[in-house]
Amino acid sequence: MRVALFSSQRYDRDSFSFVNDAFGHDLVFLEPRLSQESVALARGFPGVCVFVNDQVDAPVLRALHDDGTRLVLLRSAGFNQIDIEEAARLGIAVARVPEYSPHAVTEHTIGLILSLDRKIHRAFNRGREGNFSLDGLLGFDLHGKTVGIVGTGRIGKVVVRILRGFGCRLLLHDPFPDRALEGDDARYVAMEDLLEESDVVTLHCPLTPQTRHLIDVVALRRMKPGVMLINTSRGPLLDTRAVIEALKTRHIGSLGLDVYEEEGDLFFRDLSDQVITDDVFTRLLTFPNVLVTSHQAFFTREALHNIATTTLGNAAAFERNEPSGNEVLPAAVRRG
Ligand code: NAI
Repeated sequence: MRVALFSSQRYDRDSFSFVNDAFGHDLVFLEPRLSQESVALARGFPGVCVFVNDQVDAPVLRALHDDGTRLVLLRSAGFNQIDIEEAARLGIAVARVPEYSPHAVTEHTIGLILSLDRKIHRAFNRGREGNFSLDGLLGFDLHGKTVGIVGTGRIGKVVVRILRGFGCRLLLHDPFPDRALEGDDARYVAMEDLLEESDVVTLHCPLTPQTRHLIDVVALRRMKPGVMLINTSRGPLLDTRAVIEALKTRHIGSLGLDVYEEEGDLFFRDLSDQVITDDVFTRLLTFPNVLVTSHQAFFTREALHNIATTTLGNAAAFERNEPSGNEVLPAAVRRG
C-alpha cells in the first residue's frame, strides 16, 4: 500500500524502513504535521500514517477522503487526535497500535518519580558546576508511601507491578476495575479518596471528553499538600494553569510531565535558538520541582520496532480486507 507518513522523524524512517523489508509497502516520509494546511500532501495516498500531534479532525478527514485516502494508521496507542465518528461516517478505516511497550512508558514514569523525589536532575546540574552540596536535595523513601494510579489498563498494570516492588501502598481508580490487581497493598477506591490519600498521583488513563482537565482546581484542592503529580498520558488531562497556581502555593510538591496541553507546537523539535512564546509552558520550566520531558516515554528501541511492525501489519490486513484487531471504532471513544 502507498502510505504517507506525517510527522516523520529520522528514527521513524529508520525503524519503518527496516521493518518494511518484510511488507513491501510504498512508504513516503513527510516531515510536516498533518493539518488543514498540509493535508494536500496526502493527495492520492490510500494510506496516511500519523503520530500523536497530527491533527486529524473532521475538515482534515473530509479533505483526505476527497483525495482518495481510505485508511488512517495511528502509530500511537492513544487516539484522541482523530475524530473517529467522522472517519466512520466517511468510511475511512482507522487502526492504531494498542500495545507496543507498556514497559517503556512505565519505566519512564518511574524515572520521573525517582528523579523528582531524589532530585537527580538538580544534582546532575550542580555537579557539573562543582557544587556538591546536598542542601535542597532531600528526598523521601518511596517505600511505604501511598501512590494513586489513575487508569489500570496496559500501562497502569505495569506501574502497579513495579511500585509493588518498591513496597508502596497502591490506590487504584478505573471505571473498569481489574480486581485481580487488588491485594493487601492495592485496592480500588473512588477518585476523591485516591486524591485525598495519595503522596504520589500518576495518570494512566486516555484523553476523552470525560477526562479532559481531570485534574482541575477542585481535584487539586483535594490532593495532599506536597503531593507529587505525574502525567505521562496526555497533556489535557491537567488544567495546566491551575497546576501552576498549585505549584506557586506549594500545594503541589513536585510535578513530572512527559506531555503538555499545547505540546503540538513545541515537542519533537529543536527550538533551542528560537523564542518560545507559550508563557504557560515557559513558566513551568522555571520551577525547580518540575521535570518536563518532551513526549519521550514511548521512545525505546523495542517500542519503535513494535510500532512499525504493528502499523505496517495493520496496512497489510486492510489491503487483504481482513480485520487486524487494531481497528478504532466509535464505540471505543465513548468507552474511553
Ligand atoms: P489502556 O486503554 O490499556 O488503559 C487505559 C485505562 O484507563 C483503561 O483501563 C480505562 O478503563 C481507564 N480509564 C478510562 N477513563 C478513566 C477515568 N476517567 N479514570 C480512570 N481510568 C480511566 O491504555 P494504556 O495503553 O494503558 O495507555 C494509557 C494512556 O497512556 C494512553 O491513552 C495514552 O494517552 C498514554 N500513552 C502515552 C505515551 C507516551 O509516550 N507518553 C505512550 C503510550 C501511551
